[in-house]
Amino acid sequence: MPLRVRSCRICVSALIVAIISLTLSSAFAQSGSATPGSKPWMNAKLSPDERASLVLKEMTLDEKISLLHGTGMRGLGPMSPLSVRSNGGAGYVVGVPRLGIPDIQMSDAAYGVRSSGENGRYSTALPSDVAAAASWDLDAAYEYGALIGRELRAQGYNMSLGGGVNLTREPRNGRTFEYLGEDPVLAGSLVAQVMKGLQAQHVIGDIKHYALNDQESGRNAVNVNIDERSMRESDLLPFQIALRQTNIAAVMCSYNRLNGDYACENKHLLTDIVKKDWNFKGFVLSDWGGTHSTVKASAAGLDHEEPAEIFYGPSMKNAVEAGQVPIAEIDDHVHRILRSMFACGVVDDPLERSVVDVVGGLEVAQKIAEQSIVLLKNSQSLLPLDAGKIASIAVIGPHADVGMISGGGSAQVDPPGGNAIMPPGQGRTKWQDQVWFPTSPLKTIKAKVAHATVQYDPGTDASSAAAAAKSADVAIVFAYQWESEGMDLDNLSLPGNQDDLIAKVAAANPHTVVVLETGGPVTMPWADQVGGILEAWYAGSGGADAVANLLFGDVNPSAKLPITFPKSVDDLPHRNVVKPPKKATTEGEPDGWKRIAAGLPAFQITYDEGLEVGYKWYDAKEKSVLFPFGYGLSYTSYNYSNLTVTPGKNVRVSFTVTNTGGQAGAEIAEVYAALPQNAGEPPKRLVGWSKLKLNPGESKDVTIEIDPLYLSIFNVEKNAWQLISGDYAFLVGPSSQTLPLKESVGLK
Ligand code: BGC
Repeated sequence: MPLRVRSCRICVSALIVAIISLTLSSAFAQSGSATPGSKPWMNAKLSPDERASLVLKEMTLDEKISLLHGTGMRGLGPMSPLSVRSNGGAGYVVGVPRLGIPDIQMSDAAYGVRSSGENGRYSTALPSDVAAAASWDLDAAYEYGALIGRELRAQGYNMSLGGGVNLTREPRNGRTFEYLGEDPVLAGSLVAQVMKGLQAQHVIGDIKHYALNDQESGRNAVNVNIDERSMRESDLLPFQIALRQTNIAAVMCSYNRLNGDYACENKHLLTDIVKKDWNFKGFVLSDWGGTHSTVKASAAGLDHEEPAEIFYGPSMKNAVEAGQVPIAEIDDHVHRILRSMFACGVVDDPLERSVVDVVGGLEVAQKIAEQSIVLLKNSQSLLPLDAGKIASIAVIGPHADVGMISGGGSAQVDPPGGNAIMPPGQGRTKWQDQVWFPTSPLKTIKAKVAHATVQYDPGTDASSAAAAAKSADVAIVFAYQWESEGMDLDNLSLPGNQDDLIAKVAAANPHTVVVLETGGPVTMPWADQVGGILEAWYAGSGGADAVANLLFGDVNPSAKLPITFPKSVDDLPHRNVVKPPKKATTEGEPDGWKRIAAGLPAFQITYDEGLEVGYKWYDAKEKSVLFPFGYGLSYTSYNYSNLTVTPGKNVRVSFTVTNTGGQAGAEIAEVYAALPQNAGEPPKRLVGWSKLKLNPGESKDVTIEIDPLYLSIFNVEKNAWQLISGDYAFLVGPSSQTLPLKESVGLK
């Protein structure tokens, strides 16, 4: 479906109307805040709930309803005339200027501010979300969110649509790069920090896609079947953890159905769980086009429809007037939206555009990339490369001379400098385009070894690349796999001839290092043949500098996999995967919406592997993997000792980590728990970690307090989390499969 195609005449007239309207809207906004003292809800000393209640009392039904829906998105359904006041982001909600309630300007912002907004062109592209998860770094996650928040505001947005936290149940999912890996505790804790950083900039944050939108294929037409306990302990848990740790303003419900009902009209998901069990005070908004009814959705707990007003505009007003939707329900929806606006500071701190600090952004992006790139293999200490000794390097791989690839779809960021593989002046990036950020590995490698010969080969012809590798001291192959919203991967292999290319290059020169630019795990039939492997993910605007710093040892790798790399696609849980579309579409399945319109039954998908997500699956099935969850090497070495486990309200796990190598580094020390046999759980689960900076020879004692939730199971009959009495084993070490310390304690 051609998404963003419009005639130029419409563009020009829309632009004129936009200018007039923007002027009007800022005049309104100013008039709204001109006499703040006269409006009792402008008293910032009151709580967000008190302030929301005061505003609500003054609102007409029309004003209330205007807050319950967007005004349309270009290329996606009907547009309200008011949409011309939109900043060009994915969503625009008309505020209530007479009461000082500003418009909500929403932009996608997964790893930076999305390109589609007319001002989104100068955003920092951070490493992809899964890359940031590989840092396991809560401070970096905060900084990630804060940077996005600053750049959103600078570009006139006060709400982010980032915060993707679907668990990687299915690594072929085309949005794996947008999420935070396969473990609920890691993903939930990280997204909480991203949201904390973001909301501190006075931007409304949201986490998505709630829930179990774990594949793109058929996402609009699929019904996901899963049992209650499994979903509570896996896919829903990161949402629960994040909402418990931070007051996140919004949750976006997903496209798919869950156990029969669409997620956006699923009372169990929206009301029973998120609003009641988790005591969520913010608002639920639908994914774009994910609303399917008025009365049912409203009663189920959907507060806001995006992007248009198909069910929550005039139809909602009619339903209220006909007594089908109680006004109390409308008031609850509106109250939630208003209280979130007050809580995030978007009322007290009106939007004011400024210039995005792209230089500062680049520094942050590079720093986070350096903490995100995982060293997977380093035979005979091939890395770090010694810049002083190397005489020749062959840099091989498509586009490695100009850029590094990024993830597509609604997450796509257009960085400064545009798409490195698109000739200048070719216009804006389209949904199906691969965007390569203009961060050139060839240039950054050359800069490290000014005196050496650096030869580039695009890898199109494996024999020519092998010849280049043969004549060099070291060959560095940049391999990629593209992912985007709206598509899934057929398998986990590198596309095209890349496996063959790497095998031939490695056969020509054993000093071959492979740098992977992928959205998630890939299989590596050549892994035994190469000397080094770095997983760089989609490394963002500062990617090439970060890679070069790691290759040459200016930075010591510290990242660890937030996701298992299986040996073969056959090792994944087997299930009836809906056939993926051939190319990325917004529907994730070409006939998804048509299918719904025609009233055809949903495709069924059953996650009968249940609790066994990611490493829990491989552990339970005793399948060996290529690289396990939590794994990552360093240029130094660490020793673990002195484990003690102290039972109590929060179990305390204490141990010592020593840097036994010759370089300073940061070690992510991981703690897993094996629950009592009768808990019926997979063999172990991550319950905590600590990232420790250690100089050579230095030791640090660590104590990690384990949240009782992380040791509990979900008791469906009692609808509550429960700590089972019995023996718990605590295992500590550098990866989920290397856990040298173990101690068992009885817990009651
Ligand atoms: C995506 C959401 C996104 C929205 C707005 C949808 O297609 O699933 O993640 O926020 O579009 O662009």
